[in-house]
Amino acid sequence: MKDVNEVARNFDFHGEALDEIFDTYSTLRNGCPVGRSENYGGFWFLTKSDDIFAAEQDPEAFSVYPSMMVPSVSEGIQLPPIDIDPPEHTAYRRILLPLFTPQELKKLEQPIRDTARKLAEDFAKEGTGADASYHYSRPLPTIIFSRLAGYPEKDWPKFDKWVDDIIYERVEKPEVANQASKDVFSYFENLLDNWKDNGESANLMDYLCRAKIDGRPLTRDELLRYCYLLFLAGLDTTAWSIRAGLWYLANNPEDQQKLRDNPELIPLACEEFLRTLSPVQVMARTCLKDTVIRGQDIKAGERVMLVFGAGNRDEEIFPNPDKIDIERQENRHLAFGGGIHRCLGSNLGRRELVVGIEEFLRAVPQFKPADPSEKWHGVGPLKLAF
Ligand code: HEM
Repeated sequence: MKDVNEVARNFDFHGEALDEIFDTYSTLRNGCPVGRSENYGGFWFLTKSDDIFAAEQDPEAFSVYPSMMVPSVSEGIQLPPIDIDPPEHTAYRRILLPLFTPQELKKLEQPIRDTARKLAEDFAKEGTGADASYHYSRPLPTIIFSRLAGYPEKDWPKFDKWVDDIIYERVEKPEVANQASKDVFSYFENLLDNWKDNGESANLMDYLCRAKIDGRPLTRDELLRYCYLLFLAGLDTTAWSIRAGLWYLANNPEDQQKLRDNPELIPLACEEFLRTLSPVQVMARTCLKDTVIRGQDIKAGERVMLVFGAGNRDEEIFPNPDKIDIERQENRHLAFGGGIHRCLGSNLGRRELVVGIEEFLRAVPQFKPADPSEKWHGVGPLKLAF
Protein backbone atom coordinates (compact mmCIF):
# COMPACT_ATOMS: atom_id res chain seq x y z
CA MET A 1 0.00 0.00 0.00
CA LYS A 2 1.55 3.32 -1.06
CA ASP A 3 1.69 6.25 1.34
CA VAL A 4 -0.52 8.86 -0.29
CA ASN A 5 1.46 11.78 1.15
CA GLU A 6 4.62 10.43 -0.41
CA VAL A 7 2.84 9.90 -3.75
CA ALA A 8 1.66 13.52 -3.57
CA ARG A 9 5.11 14.91 -2.69
CA ASN A 10 6.73 13.01 -5.58
CA PHE A 11 3.95 13.56 -8.11
CA ASP A 12 5.42 14.09 -11.61
CA PHE A 13 3.84 13.96 -15.04
CA HIS A 14 6.78 13.77 -17.46
CA GLY A 15 8.60 10.87 -19.11
CA GLU A 16 8.74 7.62 -17.17
CA ALA A 17 6.28 8.92 -14.55
CA LEU A 18 3.63 8.39 -17.24
CA ASP A 19 4.19 4.59 -17.15
CA GLU A 20 2.37 4.34 -13.81
CA ILE A 21 0.39 7.56 -13.97
CA PHE A 22 -3.12 6.09 -13.87
CA ASP A 23 -2.43 4.30 -10.56
CA THR A 24 -0.95 7.54 -9.24
CA TYR A 25 -4.07 9.46 -10.30
CA SER A 26 -6.34 6.96 -8.58
CA THR A 27 -4.31 7.14 -5.33
CA LEU A 28 -4.37 10.94 -5.38
CA ARG A 29 -8.03 11.38 -6.33
CA ASN A 30 -9.09 9.09 -3.51
CA GLY A 31 -6.57 10.07 -0.83
CA CYS A 32 -5.34 13.57 -1.65
CA PRO A 33 -7.44 15.15 -4.41
CA VAL A 34 -5.85 18.56 -3.84
CA GLY A 35 -2.21 18.27 -2.84
CA ARG A 36 1.29 19.55 -3.20
CA SER A 37 4.25 18.12 -5.09
CA GLU A 38 7.86 19.11 -4.53
CA ASN A 39 8.83 18.76 -8.18
CA TYR A 40 9.55 21.68 -10.53
CA GLY A 41 9.97 24.15 -7.69
CA GLY A 42 6.77 22.98 -5.95
CA PHE A 43 3.19 23.09 -7.19
CA TRP A 44 -0.36 22.36 -6.08
CA PHE A 45 -2.42 19.89 -8.09
CA LEU A 46 -6.15 19.39 -8.68
CA THR A 47 -7.24 15.89 -9.68
CA LYS A 48 -11.07 16.01 -9.48
CA SER A 49 -12.97 16.83 -12.66
CA ASP A 50 -15.28 19.39 -10.98
CA ASP A 51 -12.37 21.27 -9.38
CA ILE A 52 -10.51 21.41 -12.69
CA PHE A 53 -13.57 22.68 -14.59
CA ALA A 54 -14.17 25.30 -11.86
CA ALA A 55 -10.55 26.54 -12.07
CA GLU A 56 -10.70 26.58 -15.89
CA GLN A 57 -13.78 28.75 -15.70
CA ASP A 58 -12.33 31.22 -13.21
CA PRO A 59 -9.51 33.07 -15.00
CA GLU A 60 -9.70 35.86 -12.41
CA ALA A 61 -8.43 33.43 -9.77
CA PHE A 62 -6.29 31.20 -12.00
CA SER A 63 -3.96 32.94 -14.44
CA VAL A 64 -2.12 31.34 -17.34
CA TYR A 65 0.88 33.60 -16.58
CA PRO A 66 3.80 32.92 -16.96
CA SER A 67 3.06 29.76 -18.98
CA MET A 68 0.57 26.92 -19.24
CA MET A 69 3.40 24.40 -19.51
CA VAL A 70 5.81 23.29 -16.82
CA PRO A 71 8.66 23.55 -17.59
CA SER A 72 7.87 26.32 -20.05
CA VAL A 73 8.31 25.64 -23.78
CA SER A 74 8.97 29.22 -24.72
CA GLU A 75 11.50 30.67 -22.29
CA GLY A 76 9.49 33.58 -20.96
CA ILE A 77 7.87 34.38 -24.32
CA GLN A 78 4.10 34.80 -23.99
CA LEU A 79 2.32 32.90 -26.77
CA PRO A 80 -1.04 34.28 -27.90
CA PRO A 81 -3.71 33.31 -27.01
CA ILE A 82 -2.70 30.44 -24.71
CA ASP A 83 -0.42 32.41 -22.36
CA ILE A 84 -2.62 35.52 -22.22
CA ASP A 85 -5.25 36.31 -19.57
CA PRO A 86 -8.49 38.26 -20.03
CA PRO A 87 -9.28 40.90 -21.04
CA GLU A 88 -6.50 40.78 -23.72
CA HIS A 89 -7.10 37.07 -24.34
CA THR A 90 -10.46 37.72 -26.06
CA ALA A 91 -8.98 39.75 -28.93
CA TYR A 92 -6.00 37.43 -29.36
CA ARG A 93 -8.25 34.37 -29.51
CA ARG A 94 -10.80 36.05 -31.78
CA ILE A 95 -8.15 36.54 -34.47
CA LEU A 96 -7.78 32.78 -34.87
CA LEU A 97 -11.50 31.91 -34.91
CA PRO A 98 -12.00 32.29 -38.70
CA LEU A 99 -9.28 29.69 -39.29
CA PHE A 100 -11.22 27.04 -37.40
CA THR A 101 -14.80 27.47 -38.64
CA PRO A 102 -16.76 24.42 -39.89
CA GLN A 103 -16.32 25.77 -43.47
CA GLU A 104 -12.53 25.88 -43.11
CA LEU A 105 -12.54 22.41 -41.60
CA LYS A 106 -14.62 21.18 -44.52
CA LYS A 107 -11.90 22.37 -46.92
CA LEU A 108 -9.41 20.16 -45.07
CA GLU A 109 -11.66 17.07 -45.03
CA GLN A 110 -10.55 15.70 -48.41
CA PRO A 111 -6.83 16.46 -47.87
CA ILE A 112 -7.01 14.67 -44.50
CA ARG A 113 -8.71 11.65 -46.09
CA ASP A 114 -6.33 11.51 -49.09
CA THR A 115 -3.22 11.96 -46.97
CA ALA A 116 -4.32 9.34 -44.42
CA ARG A 117 -5.19 6.85 -47.17
CA LYS A 118 -1.87 7.27 -48.97
CA LEU A 119 0.15 7.03 -45.74
CA ALA A 120 -1.82 3.96 -44.57
CA GLU A 121 -1.39 2.17 -47.90
CA ASP A 122 2.33 2.94 -47.93
CA PHE A 123 2.56 1.75 -44.33
CA ALA A 124 0.94 -1.57 -45.24
CA LYS A 125 3.55 -2.02 -48.00
CA GLU A 126 6.37 -1.51 -45.47
CA GLY A 127 5.40 -4.91 -44.06
CA THR A 128 5.38 -6.40 -40.61
CA GLY A 129 7.50 -4.65 -37.94
CA ALA A 130 7.04 -1.20 -39.52
CA ASP A 131 6.79 1.81 -37.20
CA ALA A 132 3.26 3.26 -37.29
CA SER A 133 4.41 6.38 -35.48
CA TYR A 134 7.13 7.29 -37.96
CA HIS A 135 5.16 6.29 -41.06
CA TYR A 136 1.67 7.28 -40.02
CA SER A 137 0.65 9.07 -36.83
CA ARG A 138 3.42 11.68 -37.03
CA PRO A 139 3.36 12.64 -40.72
CA LEU A 140 -0.45 12.86 -40.96
CA PRO A 141 -0.96 15.97 -38.75
CA THR A 142 2.32 17.53 -39.86
CA ILE A 143 1.41 17.28 -43.55
CA ILE A 144 -2.07 18.66 -42.87
CA PHE A 145 -0.57 21.51 -40.85
CA SER A 146 1.72 22.31 -43.81
CA ARG A 147 -1.43 23.02 -45.85
CA LEU A 148 -2.86 25.22 -43.13
CA ALA A 149 0.38 27.08 -42.47
CA GLY A 150 1.60 27.25 -46.06
CA TYR A 151 5.01 25.64 -45.70
CA PRO A 152 6.33 23.00 -48.10
CA GLU A 153 4.98 19.54 -47.33
CA LYS A 154 8.45 18.01 -47.75
CA ASP A 155 9.61 19.86 -44.61
CA TRP A 156 7.54 17.66 -42.29
CA PRO A 157 10.45 15.57 -40.86
CA LYS A 158 12.20 18.79 -39.86
CA PHE A 159 9.07 19.91 -37.99
CA ASP A 160 8.77 16.64 -36.14
CA LYS A 161 12.40 16.83 -35.02
CA TRP A 162 11.80 20.33 -33.63
CA VAL A 163 8.66 19.15 -31.82
CA ASP A 164 10.67 16.31 -30.23
CA ASP A 165 13.42 18.65 -29.12
CA ILE A 166 11.10 21.31 -27.74
CA ILE A 167 8.49 19.17 -26.02
CA TYR A 168 10.40 16.05 -25.02
CA GLU A 169 13.90 17.36 -24.31
CA ARG A 170 12.97 20.45 -22.35
CA VAL A 171 13.22 18.72 -18.96
CA GLU A 172 16.54 16.91 -19.47
CA LYS A 173 18.21 19.07 -22.13
CA PRO A 174 16.82 22.61 -22.06
CA GLU A 175 19.64 23.87 -24.31
CA VAL A 176 18.48 21.49 -27.08
CA ALA A 177 14.89 22.66 -26.66
CA ASN A 178 15.93 26.33 -26.74
CA GLN A 179 17.92 25.86 -29.94
CA ALA A 180 14.96 24.11 -31.60
CA SER A 181 12.66 26.99 -30.55
CA LYS A 182 15.05 29.45 -32.19
CA ASP A 183 15.14 27.31 -35.35
CA VAL A 184 11.34 27.28 -35.53
CA PHE A 185 11.16 31.07 -35.15
CA SER A 186 13.81 31.47 -37.89
CA TYR A 187 11.89 29.12 -40.16
CA PHE A 188 8.70 31.15 -39.83
CA GLU A 189 10.65 34.42 -40.14
CA ASN A 190 11.98 33.19 -43.45
CA LEU A 191 8.46 32.31 -44.64
CA LEU A 192 7.30 35.74 -43.53
CA ASP A 193 10.18 37.56 -45.27
CA ASN A 194 9.34 35.78 -48.51
CA TRP A 195 5.59 36.28 -48.19
CA LYS A 196 3.96 38.15 -51.06
CA ASP A 197 0.41 39.44 -51.08
CA ASN A 198 -1.21 37.65 -54.03
CA GLY A 199 -4.67 38.85 -53.05
CA GLU A 200 -5.84 35.43 -51.88
CA SER A 201 -6.27 34.40 -48.29
CA ALA A 202 -5.23 30.80 -48.65
CA ASN A 203 -3.15 29.91 -45.62
CA LEU A 204 -2.19 30.90 -42.10
CA MET A 205 0.56 33.29 -43.18
CA ASP A 206 -1.75 35.06 -45.68
CA TYR A 207 -4.38 35.29 -43.02
CA LEU A 208 -2.15 36.55 -40.21
CA CYS A 209 -0.40 39.09 -42.45
CA ARG A 210 -3.77 40.73 -43.12
CA ALA A 211 -5.31 40.26 -39.66
CA LYS A 212 -6.05 43.26 -37.43
CA ILE A 213 -6.13 43.39 -33.65
CA ASP A 214 -7.89 46.40 -32.11
CA GLY A 215 -7.84 47.99 -35.58
CA ARG A 216 -4.08 47.68 -36.16
CA PRO A 217 -2.07 45.01 -38.01
CA LEU A 218 -0.25 42.40 -35.95
CA THR A 219 3.35 43.20 -35.14
CA ARG A 220 5.99 40.93 -36.65
CA ASP A 221 6.62 39.53 -33.19
CA GLU A 222 2.94 38.72 -32.56
CA LEU A 223 2.63 37.08 -35.94
CA LEU A 224 5.61 34.81 -35.35
CA ARG A 225 4.35 33.88 -31.90
CA TYR A 226 1.00 32.77 -33.37
CA CYS A 227 2.83 30.57 -35.89
CA TYR A 228 4.96 29.06 -33.16
CA LEU A 229 1.98 28.39 -30.89
CA LEU A 230 -0.05 26.70 -33.62
CA PHE A 231 2.93 24.56 -34.56
CA LEU A 232 3.34 23.49 -30.91
CA ALA A 233 -0.37 23.05 -30.20
CA GLY A 234 -1.42 21.12 -33.28
CA LEU A 235 1.25 18.59 -34.21
CA ASP A 236 2.39 16.59 -31.21
CA THR A 237 -1.11 16.49 -29.65
CA THR A 238 -2.73 14.99 -32.74
CA ALA A 239 0.17 12.63 -33.49
CA TRP A 240 0.09 11.37 -29.89
CA SER A 241 -3.69 10.81 -30.04
CA ILE A 242 -3.54 8.80 -33.27
CA ARG A 243 -0.60 6.75 -31.99
CA ALA A 244 -2.38 6.12 -28.66
CA GLY A 245 -5.51 4.92 -30.49
CA LEU A 246 -3.44 2.53 -32.63
CA TRP A 247 -1.51 1.37 -29.56
CA TYR A 248 -4.78 0.52 -27.81
CA LEU A 249 -6.20 -1.31 -30.83
CA ALA A 250 -2.96 -3.27 -31.33
CA ASN A 251 -3.16 -4.42 -27.70
CA ASN A 252 -6.91 -5.14 -27.75
CA PRO A 253 -7.66 -7.31 -30.78
CA GLU A 254 -11.35 -7.77 -29.89
CA ASP A 255 -12.00 -4.05 -29.92
CA GLN A 256 -9.95 -3.72 -33.11
CA GLN A 257 -12.19 -6.31 -34.75
CA LYS A 258 -15.30 -4.58 -33.40
CA LEU A 259 -14.27 -1.31 -35.08
CA ARG A 260 -13.48 -3.14 -38.32
CA ASP A 261 -16.97 -4.69 -38.24
CA ASN A 262 -18.69 -1.48 -37.06
CA PRO A 263 -16.73 1.53 -38.39
CA GLU A 264 -19.61 3.79 -37.30
CA LEU A 265 -18.31 3.30 -33.74
CA ILE A 266 -14.93 4.90 -34.56
CA PRO A 267 -15.92 8.46 -33.50
CA LEU A 268 -17.11 7.18 -30.10
CA ALA A 269 -13.96 5.11 -29.69
CA CYS A 270 -11.83 8.16 -30.50
CA GLU A 271 -13.54 10.22 -27.78
CA GLU A 272 -12.68 7.43 -25.38
CA PHE A 273 -9.03 7.43 -26.51
CA LEU A 274 -8.98 11.19 -25.92
CA ARG A 275 -10.48 10.77 -22.47
CA THR A 276 -8.18 7.99 -21.28
CA LEU A 277 -4.92 8.40 -23.24
CA SER A 278 -4.89 12.13 -23.83
CA PRO A 279 -1.71 13.95 -24.93
CA VAL A 280 -2.30 16.86 -22.56
CA GLN A 281 -2.27 15.32 -19.09
CA VAL A 282 -1.60 18.58 -17.26
CA MET A 283 -1.83 22.35 -17.76
CA ALA A 284 -0.49 24.94 -15.33
CA ARG A 285 -2.02 28.03 -13.79
CA THR A 286 -0.87 30.58 -11.20
CA CYS A 287 -3.22 31.39 -8.34
CA LEU A 288 -4.00 35.14 -8.31
CA LYS A 289 -5.76 35.32 -4.94
CA ASP A 290 -5.75 33.26 -1.76
CA THR A 291 -8.12 30.36 -2.39
CA VAL A 292 -9.38 27.32 -0.50
CA ILE A 293 -10.17 24.12 -2.40
CA ARG A 294 -11.41 21.03 -0.50
CA GLY A 295 -9.99 22.51 2.69
CA GLN A 296 -6.54 23.22 1.26
CA ASP A 297 -5.26 26.79 1.37
CA ILE A 298 -3.62 27.88 -1.85
CA LYS A 299 -1.87 31.25 -1.64
CA ALA A 300 -1.74 33.96 -4.29
CA GLY A 301 1.35 33.47 -6.45
CA GLU A 302 1.49 29.67 -6.08
CA ARG A 303 1.52 27.38 -9.09
CA VAL A 304 -1.44 25.01 -9.59
CA MET A 305 -1.56 22.10 -12.02
CA LEU A 306 -4.90 21.17 -13.53
CA VAL A 307 -4.43 17.44 -13.95
CA PHE A 308 -6.79 16.82 -16.89
CA GLY A 309 -5.66 13.19 -17.12
CA ALA A 310 -6.79 12.53 -13.51
CA GLY A 311 -10.08 14.39 -13.96
CA ASN A 312 -10.73 12.30 -17.06
CA ARG A 313 -10.73 9.16 -14.91
CA ASP A 314 -12.74 10.59 -12.01
CA GLU A 315 -15.02 7.84 -10.70
CA GLU A 316 -17.63 10.41 -9.66
CA ILE A 317 -18.09 11.38 -13.32
CA PHE A 318 -17.25 8.24 -15.30
CA PRO A 319 -18.55 4.80 -14.27
CA ASN A 320 -15.71 2.27 -14.37
CA PRO A 321 -13.30 5.10 -15.23
CA ASP A 322 -10.16 3.09 -15.98
CA LYS A 323 -11.94 0.89 -18.51
CA ILE A 324 -11.52 2.01 -22.11
CA ASP A 325 -15.07 1.48 -23.31
CA ILE A 326 -15.13 2.20 -27.04
CA GLU A 327 -18.91 2.54 -26.93
CA ARG A 328 -19.06 4.94 -23.96
CA GLN A 329 -21.90 7.40 -24.60
CA GLU A 330 -21.55 10.06 -21.86
CA ASN A 331 -18.06 11.47 -22.22
CA ARG A 332 -17.59 14.99 -20.82
CA HIS A 333 -13.81 14.73 -20.81
CA LEU A 334 -11.19 17.43 -20.40
CA ALA A 335 -8.85 16.44 -23.23
CA PHE A 336 -9.41 19.83 -24.87
CA GLY A 337 -9.73 21.80 -21.62
CA GLY A 338 -12.97 23.40 -20.54
CA GLY A 339 -12.79 27.17 -20.09
CA ILE A 340 -11.88 30.28 -22.04
CA HIS A 341 -8.69 28.60 -23.34
CA ARG A 342 -10.55 25.54 -24.61
CA CYS A 343 -8.69 24.12 -27.60
CA LEU A 344 -9.37 26.03 -30.81
CA GLY A 345 -8.22 23.13 -32.97
CA SER A 346 -10.39 20.50 -31.27
CA ASN A 347 -12.52 19.82 -34.34
CA LEU A 348 -9.49 19.59 -36.60
CA GLY A 349 -7.64 17.33 -34.12
CA ARG A 350 -10.74 15.13 -33.76
CA ARG A 351 -11.20 14.84 -37.51
CA GLU A 352 -7.57 13.83 -38.05
CA LEU A 353 -7.89 11.24 -35.30
CA VAL A 354 -11.15 9.72 -36.58
CA VAL A 355 -10.15 9.69 -40.26
CA GLY A 356 -6.67 8.52 -39.24
CA ILE A 357 -8.09 5.45 -37.46
CA GLU A 358 -10.64 4.76 -40.23
CA GLU A 359 -8.07 4.75 -43.01
CA PHE A 360 -5.53 2.75 -41.03
CA LEU A 361 -8.07 0.00 -40.31
CA ARG A 362 -9.08 0.00 -43.95
CA ALA A 363 -5.55 -0.39 -45.34
CA VAL A 364 -3.77 -2.48 -42.71
CA PRO A 365 -4.88 -6.05 -41.82
CA GLN A 366 -5.33 -7.16 -38.20
CA PHE A 367 -2.28 -5.85 -36.32
CA LYS A 368 -0.67 -6.40 -32.91
CA PRO A 369 2.38 -4.94 -31.14
CA ALA A 370 5.71 -6.07 -32.60
CA ASP A 371 7.38 -4.77 -29.44
CA PRO A 372 5.02 -5.19 -26.46
CA SER A 373 7.29 -3.05 -24.26
CA GLU A 374 6.23 0.10 -26.12
CA LYS A 375 4.09 2.35 -23.94
CA TRP A 376 0.77 4.12 -24.46
CA HIS A 377 2.26 7.62 -24.18
CA GLY A 378 4.40 9.87 -26.32
CA VAL A 379 5.11 9.99 -30.03
CA GLY A 380 7.96 7.45 -30.05
CA PRO A 381 8.04 4.26 -32.13
CA LEU A 382 5.01 1.97 -32.37
CA LYS A 383 6.11 -1.12 -34.27
CA LEU A 384 3.29 -3.32 -35.46
CA ALA A 385 3.16 -6.95 -36.58
CA PHE A 386 0.56 -7.82 -39.23
C1 HEM B 1 -6.13 15.81 -30.39
C2 HEM B 1 -5.50 16.96 -30.56
C3 HEM B 1 -5.47 18.09 -29.57
C4 HEM B 1 -5.60 18.09 -28.20
C5 HEM B 1 -5.84 16.91 -27.29
C6 HEM B 1 -5.49 19.49 -27.77
C7 HEM B 1 -5.58 19.91 -26.44
C8 HEM B 1 -5.53 21.23 -26.04
C9 HEM B 1 -5.62 21.68 -24.67
C10 HEM B 1 -5.77 20.76 -23.45
C11 HEM B 1 -5.57 23.03 -24.65
C12 HEM B 1 -5.59 23.95 -23.42
C13 HEM B 1 -7.00 24.12 -22.94
C14 HEM B 1 -7.14 24.79 -21.61
O1 HEM B 1 -6.18 25.09 -20.90
O2 HEM B 1 -8.31 25.00 -21.26
C15 HEM B 1 -5.44 23.47 -26.03
C16 HEM B 1 -5.38 24.78 -26.43
C17 HEM B 1 -5.21 25.17 -27.75
N1 HEM B 1 -5.13 24.35 -28.86
FE1 HEM B 1 -5.30 22.33 -28.88
N2 HEM B 1 -5.30 20.27 -28.87
C18 HEM B 1 -5.28 19.48 -29.99
C19 HEM B 1 -5.13 19.88 -31.30
C20 HEM B 1 -5.00 21.19 -31.72
C21 HEM B 1 -4.84 21.60 -33.08
C22 HEM B 1 -4.84 20.66 -34.30
C23 HEM B 1 -4.70 22.97 -33.07
C24 HEM B 1 -4.49 23.92 -34.22
C25 HEM B 1 -3.74 23.68 -35.29
C26 HEM B 1 -4.82 23.41 -31.69
C27 HEM B 1 -4.77 24.72 -31.27
C28 HEM B 1 -4.94 25.15 -29.96
C29 HEM B 1 -4.94 26.55 -29.57
C30 HEM B 1 -4.76 27.76 -30.49
C31 HEM B 1 -5.12 26.57 -28.18
C32 HEM B 1 -5.16 27.81 -27.28
C33 HEM B 1 -6.56 28.35 -27.12
C34 HEM B 1 -6.64 29.56 -26.18
O3 HEM B 1 -5.74 29.77 -25.37
O4 HEM B 1 -7.64 30.31 -26.27
N3 HEM B 1 -4.98 22.29 -30.90
N4 HEM B 1 -5.42 22.34 -26.85
